[in-house]
Amino acid sequence: MSGTAQIGVTGLAVMGRNLARNFARNGYTVAVHNRTTAKTDALVEEFGDEGAFVAARTPEEFVAALERPRRLVIMVKAGEPTDAVIQEFAPLLDEGDVIIDGGNAHFEDTRRREKELRGRGIHFVGAGISGGEEGALNGPSIMPGGSAESYASLGPMLEKIAAKAKDGTPCTTHIGPDGAGHFVKMVHNGIEYADMQLIGEAYQLLRDVAGYSPAQIADIFRTWNTGRLDSYLIEITAEVLSHVDAATGKPFVDVVLDRAEQKGTGRWTVQIALDLGVPVSGIAEAVFARSVSGHADLRDASRHLAGPTARKLREDEAPAFADQVEQALYASKIVAYTQGFHEITAGSEQYDWDIDLGKVAAIWRGGCIIRAAFLDRITSAYEAQPDMPSLLSDKSFAEEIAAAQDDWRTVIATAVAQGVPTPAFAATLAYYDSLRAERLPAALTQGQRDYFGAHTYHRTDREGTFHTLWGDDKSEVEN
Ligand code: 6PG
Repeated sequence: MSGTAQIGVTGLAVMGRNLARNFARNGYTVAVHNRTTAKTDALVEEFGDEGAFVAARTPEEFVAALERPRRLVIMVKAGEPTDAVIQEFAPLLDEGDVIIDGGNAHFEDTRRREKELRGRGIHFVGAGISGGEEGALNGPSIMPGGSAESYASLGPMLEKIAAKAKDGTPCTTHIGPDGAGHFVKMVHNGIEYADMQLIGEAYQLLRDVAGYSPAQIADIFRTWNTGRLDSYLIEITAEVLSHVDAATGKPFVDVVLDRAEQKGTGRWTVQIALDLGVPVSGIAEAVFARSVSGHADLRDASRHLAGPTARKLREDEAPAFADQVEQALYASKIVAYTQGFHEITAGSEQYDWDIDLGKVAAIWRGGCIIRAAFLDRITSAYEAQPDMPSLLSDKSFAEEIAAAQDDWRTVIATAVAQGVPTPAFAATLAYYDSLRAERLPAALTQGQRDYFGAHTYHRTDREGTFHTLWGDDKSEVEN
């Protein structure tokens, strides 16, 4: 027997609840289920008038409520809870049914689950969902992986509930097989970390070097948000900076403990990049910056470490410096995205996913945390040249960086001279300069490796693998 609900959501914490409401508000009948039934009842009681919900008390009731092929979304914590829920529901399903994991799962877990369930005839869709609580309710960016067949059955529904870009395109697309969706969501989060860190560094410079107050910096960010930096993260940064703590009357940002936490997706982005051999230095510095901030013990000892104190500029000098920081932020941001897209290219090649980078950029234009006006241009760049080796191969981005780079360098030099830490600014510029360099010191590294370990090297002037007999007459042998 087949039920009436077109989709089911199990796991009704904030994200699950909001996603269920989003489906219902878009006209779908939604079966809802939670381990503790109180949450199911509360959802139906509070939001029952938003659409058609079927409250299920048991897994059996939940599965029976779904029309076939069944589509059920799991919204529980990544890791073991997800496996436990899959084990609970899979035996109740039939061939052709679709399980969707909407959590921030590690893509390797998704690959494992997909394979296991495929063997049982069940489609498993690892779907990255970005946009936080608000996005889940009003339109997230959705990055589903899995079989093309599962997307045929699920895609139209996802397209309906997803955010829409300014041109009306839904912010979801079939990313690729098995773990592709969660991989792309992971990299999204890595870029998110870099974006946030770069904004943080810009804030610190505007405060410590230019001498602006948080409220003034909020205004600067508001202005930036009307230009090429237009993005969700810049917009909310202005909101956070202009917020005043009710208890103390101080800027909110001054009463929050400066230790950044992380759930892990940014860290995964870097771990996987290391495995794939992809240089994501800007993203890595953002992850490390969070770790440094969390080491209260190390930072306490650092009180004894000498260094310059940032010098506040004269009031009339500050606006010009703020303009330079905008240039630096934009240039570094382009590099951080370049690194993220490179990691997606490498993942796609490694796992045979055939990911369309233009489509990824397109579905990040709305709904997700890194949504930004310039993703329109990244979309067009990849549409025009799908195989470009790097975003920096695009002429218009390269030209923009060329125009920004004097200020970019000045800002970083100022930060270094004045002792303001700007690890992500500096790492992204170093990446850019590494790509520009005609010769890198890697030749010397090869010489050292050959010296102490006979690790061999290649020559610039002829084919082959060589080793120098360093201890003897330093003659060269071909291996
Ligand atoms: C999103 C966010 C979301 C989230 C992460 C990041 O795309 O909606 O990235 O997935 O906020 O949990 O959190 P951490 O900063 O704790 O790693």
